[in-house]
Amino acid sequence: MDGGAGPIFPPIRRMSTASTDTYGLADYIRSLEAILDRRPSDRVIIREVSQATKRLCATDRWLEERFRVGSPDAYNRHLLHRDPRNRFIVLSLVWMPGQMTPVHDHSCWGVMGIVSGSLEEVGYERLDDGSRPGYAELAEGRGSDVGRGSVAYLLPPHEEIHRIGNTSAGQSISLHVYGRDLDEVNVFDPVSGVVSPMRIKYYSPECGHQPFVI
Ligand SMILES: [Fe+2]
Repeated sequence: MDGGAGPIFPPIRRMSTASTDTYGLADYIRSLEAILDRRPSDRVIIREVSQATKRLCATDRWLEERFRVGSPDAYNRHLLHRDPRNRFIVLSLVWMPGQMTPVHDHSCWGVMGIVSGSLEEVGYERLDDGSRPGYAELAEGRGSDVGRGSVAYLLPPHEEIHRIGNTSAGQSISLHVYGRDLDEVNVFDPVSGVVSPMRIKYYSPECGHQPFVI
């Protein structure tokens, strides 16, 4: 059903431990480009990007300090790479204890890996048929802890509504890849059913921590 050839990654030098693997962010971006060059289905993309994400996140040494800066105000987003062909973006997100997203979607595929610490992800199932504008009836699924070595993914149309938060006692850093040049998501109020658009902002030390919208 998935079709397509196998993943095109450089061979892993040691399978028993990733500590000597020199696979870094530039390698990871090349892996993503190679996957998307084949124009596979979203399901294949998720599977192969997840493999690459696990490999990258086996260590954290590839992430520069400037992309590890958090904020007491809200979880911080750092744009690491934007595909010149607008097929994907790569972000690091820095979460202080207690920081979390609202319930939201992305309208694209996505993969999240953990660079350090851990996060909780809760998925939501949409129960209504989507015919009523600005409204959604959701059922909350079970939360799962995502830690080093595991990934979470988004796969429209049925697996893309979720919330993520740092329920641990320490700072956590995650790596996110999205299948479009994300500038807006839908935010869901699971109690009232109200759905509202929200502009996505990215923060970067290179921009003096001023938010900018893509
Ligand atoms: Fe998300």
